[in-house]
Amino acid sequence: MDILPILIDGVDSATRRQAASDLAAALGRTVLLGASGYPGTDNRWVAALDDAPSSRAPRQTVLAAPMDEMLAAVHRTELVEVGDVRSYPVIVGPGSRRRLAEVLPTKTQRVAVVTQAGVGIDVSDVLTGFDVRVFTIEDGERAKRFEVAADLASQFAQWGMTRNDVVVAIGGGVVTDLGGFVASVYHRGIPVVHVATTLLGQIDAAIGGKCGVNLPEGKNLMGSFWQPSAVLCDTDALQTLPEREYRSGLGELAKYHFLGGGELDAMPLVDRVAACVRIKADVVAADEREGGRRAILNYGHTLAHALESAGTYEIRHGEAVATGLVYAAEVAHRLGRIDSTEVAEHRRVVEHYGQSTTLPAGIDNDQILELFSRDKKALDGITFVLDGPRGVETVRIDDRKLLTDALKAMRT
Ligand SMILES: NC(=O)c1ccc[n+]([C@@H]2O[C@H](COP(=O)([O-])OP(=O)(O)OC[C@H]3O[C@@H](n4cnc5c(N)ncnc54)[C@H](O)[C@@H]3O)[C@@H](O)[C@H]2O)c1
Ligand SMILES: [Zn+2]
Repeated sequence: MDILPILIDGVDSATRRQAASDLAAALGRTVLLGASGYPGTDNRWVAALDDAPSSRAPRQTVLAAPMDEMLAAVHRTELVEVGDVRSYPVIVGPGSRRRLAEVLPTKTQRVAVVTQAGVGIDVSDVLTGFDVRVFTIEDGERAKRFEVAADLASQFAQWGMTRNDVVVAIGGGVVTDLGGFVASVYHRGIPVVHVATTLLGQIDAAIGGKCGVNLPEGKNLMGSFWQPSAVLCDTDALQTLPEREYRSGLGELAKYHFLGGGELDAMPLVDRVAACVRIKADVVAADEREGGRRAILNYGHTLAHALESAGTYEIRHGEAVATGLVYAAEVAHRLGRIDSTEVAEHRRVVEHYGQSTTLPAGIDNDQILELFSRDKKALDGITFVLDGPRGVETVRIDDRKLLTDALKAMRT
């Protein structure tokens, strides 16, 4: 369990004690109070969230202050700007799901919670005063179907949902993609709030407004751009995430190192997620509809999509992206865009997140090349997203030998 030790500082012990208990209620966590156990914290009360005090030094000091100031110290709020007038908050941190009522549009009466059984997050206690219904969809990519979206819309209509009501999607990318899509078309669009509960969802899927469903003919073939009213990235949710899903998120996270993330690996989790949100938000602000710059978010994805669509073995999206980053570096190096130190840095980062830097066995180079040209980004030749002197950008390549040589470099 990830413990978030917090130092509550303030004028007197009664105030500190009260502040710690208020914060505990707001975050939905147990707070233990104690004045000892942390070196250098004499005369201060330590509020160690969760059920065991941590031996680690507190990462944050919170002044006993009004609740919004205390929450602002524990949570990071990033703003996503879209167009000239709209912007919405992404609140990252432990217990941020408890701020749901705060971010609902003011006229909200009915709240349609769309979620999956495995997510296991109940928000009924923070939505008192609203008419709440929970719609549980099936698990996995199969749930992202038009039929499931249409069925949800029917249930919303039978319930009498109007444009004043809101969809709250609680889950990973499957739930937020589907929930966002239904919200975007029901009554020609009603508000949606995402509560992202997977690492991949928090740093990617829930941010930026792309949503949709799969068709039998392919993934994400039907969808829309529909920006949420707010996104809550509750880092507590990650504690129940299956190990494989967390790893997949880490693979996607590795990508942000090369999109301006800097020392992401040295940051505490909350700062790390917030930094990725910031990068994605900035890219989306510059290019909401994927005319150009948004394509850099596909760094590592050309190979990733090929590996995923090969379908001969199971690979999670983020794992494929991580391997794809190394491949993009090998290709960029062969084009003289980056030097070998930078290739080594790609390998280091990918390994740091426990991901594979070699191609999986069972798929040969010719198969991969064939799959590249089927990638939906292949508008005209094979488009790669590559690092270079001007940073990460799209590059068209039709040199099969170069692409094959770079694949060979990943077979060792
Ligand atoms: N819209 C975008 O910009 C965008 C970007 C990237 C990916 N996506 C989409 O996201 C989807 C993948 O999302 P994902 O990786 O989050 O997978 P997912 O949504 O399938 O979630 C993975 C699994 O974890 C479970 N789960 C979720 N939260 C949990 C929690 N807190 N505790 C325990 N279990 C939990 C889910 O029920 C599911 O079984 C794909 O459909 C992809 O197309 C969309
Ligand atoms: Zn991705």
